[in-house]
Amino acid sequence: MNLSYLKSRVIEKAAAYSLSRDAKAIRSERLTYLSARKLRRLERALARVVRGNVPGDIVEFGVALGGSAVLLAKRTSPQRRFYGLDVFSMIPEPTSEKDDATSKERYRTIAAGKSEGIGGDTYYGYRTDLYEHVSQQLKRHGTPVDGQRVHLVRGLFENTWPTLNITSIAFAHIDCDWYDPVRFCLRAVAEKLSPNGMVVIDDYHDYKGCRQAVDEFLGANPEYAMLPGSNPILYLRQGER
Ligand SMILES: C[S@@+](CC[C@H](N)C(=O)[O-])C[C@H]1O[C@@H](n2cnc3c(N)ncnc32)[C@H](O)[C@@H]1O
Repeated sequence: MNLSYLKSRVIEKAAAYSLSRDAKAIRSERLTYLSARKLRRLERALARVVRGNVPGDIVEFGVALGGSAVLLAKRTSPQRRFYGLDVFSMIPEPTSEKDDATSKERYRTIAAGKSEGIGGDTYYGYRTDLYEHVSQQLKRHGTPVDGQRVHLVRGLFENTWPTLNITSIAFAHIDCDWYDPVRFCLRAVAEKLSPNGMVVIDDYHDYKGCRQAVDEFLGANPEYAMLPGSNPILYLRQGER
C-alpha cells in the first residue's frame, strides 16, 4: 500500500464524515457514483450559490440513479427550479476520436452487459424502469417530480435541451463522461450562466475526452476560470457578463 493511496483514503474518510445527512443517505442507499470528496465539493459549491442568491435554475446533465439529483433538487425554491436531464437508459457511446481508450473500453463493458452496479446491484443502464426509479427516489426524499419545481427530462441532451424554457442558470452539474456531451453541455450552460453562478464538472480526472472538452472550452472562453479539485468548478471571472 503506497503513501498517496493511504493519503487519499484518509481524505475520503474525512470527507464522508463531514457530508450532510442527505449526502450520507444517498451514499448508503447506493444512489450515486460520486465519491464523498466530490459530493462535499458539490454541496459546498451549491450552498455558496444559494447563499449568494445567484439567480437562475439548477441543472444536472447526467442523473443515472438520481443520487446527486436528490441533493440538487433539495435546493429548489419557488424562484429556483431543478432540471435533471438523462436518457434514463444505457449511456450513449463515446464516438469522438477525442475520447480515450479507457472510455471506449468502459463503454464496451457496459454494452456487453458486463457492468456491475453499485455494491452488487444491477447496473443502472440495464434497468428498464430507470426513469420511474429516479422519480421514486426524488419523491421519497421530499422532492417529487412535479413539473414545476422539479423536472426530469428524458432523452439525449442534444434533443431535449432546446425544448426547455430555461432563461438563466445559477448552478450546473455536468456529469456525462465523454467528450461530445460534455462539450455540448458546457456550450449550452455558458449561454445562460448567471454572474457568480457555478458549473461543477465530474469527470475531468477520469476520462480524457471530458478533460479535453473542458480545456478547449476554457481556451475559447477566457472569461471563465477554473477552481481545480477532484471535480473542478468553472465560474465567470468578476465583471464578465
Ligand atoms: C456517470 S452517470 C451520472 C451519475 C450521477 N450524477 C450520480 O450521482 O451518480 C452519467 C449519465 O449521463 C447520461 N448521459 C451521457 N451522455 C448523455 C447524452 N448525450 N444525453 C443524455 N444523457 C446522457 C448517461 O446515460 C448516464 O446516466
